[in-house]
Amino acid sequence: MIELANVSVRYPKEVVALHPTTLHFRRGEFNVLLGASGAGKSSLLRSLNLLNTPTTGCVRAADIGVIDTPAKLRLHRSRTGMIFQQHQLISRQTALSNVLLGRIGYHSTWRTLFPLARAEQRIALECLDRVGLLHKATERVDRLSGGQLQRVGIARALAQKPRLMLADEPVASLDPATSRRVLSQLKSICREDGITSVVSLHQVDLAREYADRIIALAHGHVVFDGAPDELTDVLLQTIYDQTPGNIRDVVASQPVMFPVLT
Ligand SMILES: Nc1ncnc2c1ncn2[C@@H]1O[C@H](COP(=O)(O)OP(=O)(O)OP(=O)(O)O)[C@@H](O)[C@H]1O
Ligand SMILES: [Mg+2]
Repeated sequence: MIELANVSVRYPKEVVALHPTTLHFRRGEFNVLLGASGAGKSSLLRSLNLLNTPTTGCVRAADIGVIDTPAKLRLHRSRTGMIFQQHQLISRQTALSNVLLGRIGYHSTWRTLFPLARAEQRIALECLDRVGLLHKATERVDRLSGGQLQRVGIARALAQKPRLMLADEPVASLDPATSRRVLSQLKSICREDGITSVVSLHQVDLAREYADRIIALAHGHVVFDGAPDELTDVLLQTIYDQTPGNIRDVVASQPVMFPVLT
């Protein structure tokens, strides 16, 4: 569905956030990225919609091919929903107005200066309904709880009718029960709609509970790629141990890992 082919991300001052990485994400799969702070999760995630332009390699999407022109990038981005840790909603606007923003990619710039049609409002309301927030449609979002805000963020991303959903630490600021509610809602909606999800998390227990596939990063390398039950405690300890030598040992000893370190 979407593929990183040999993609690396390098920032100024020679910071290599992601070493050349090849990954294929299947349609409808719920992928979770794990790794210590600075491991490269956001860099990988943002390379999937080219918010980070790959330093090497390319990104391929189904029906688009290599995303190498502005037109292809626009099309790819219009099909990619993004959910952020700090939801990035417009606080003085209603939930409905915020969700309608997800529809902007479907209209020309001048069109969005005018009230969006009823059909658009219906789509936005349906999306709010799917996250259980129809009753909050006309509420200003600065009056909503953290979990509700994140669900409005999901509704906004869904209003785009995405094929790919990218979520960077979507539950980082939520309590455990709310985190579970938000993740399980996100997962079930994505499954129903066949949306491929790539979600970065810091909570290993949530990753184990919700992921179809876990990809763990350390120092910009993929050091684990497999099913949640293949991720042993020993592996986890090493993934979160910041010493590069340890990571190299684990990469060398584990068949489920990519031989990325040389
Ligand atoms: N805009 C930037 N300019 C320079 N270096 C950056 C930039 N963004 C990230 N980095 C560096 O790239 C590396 C990977 O960062 P990234 O944000 O991808 O990690 P992360 O796994 O998402 O971390 P966290 O869990 O803290 O969000 C880090 O060393 C970070 O300092
Ligand atoms: Mg990050």
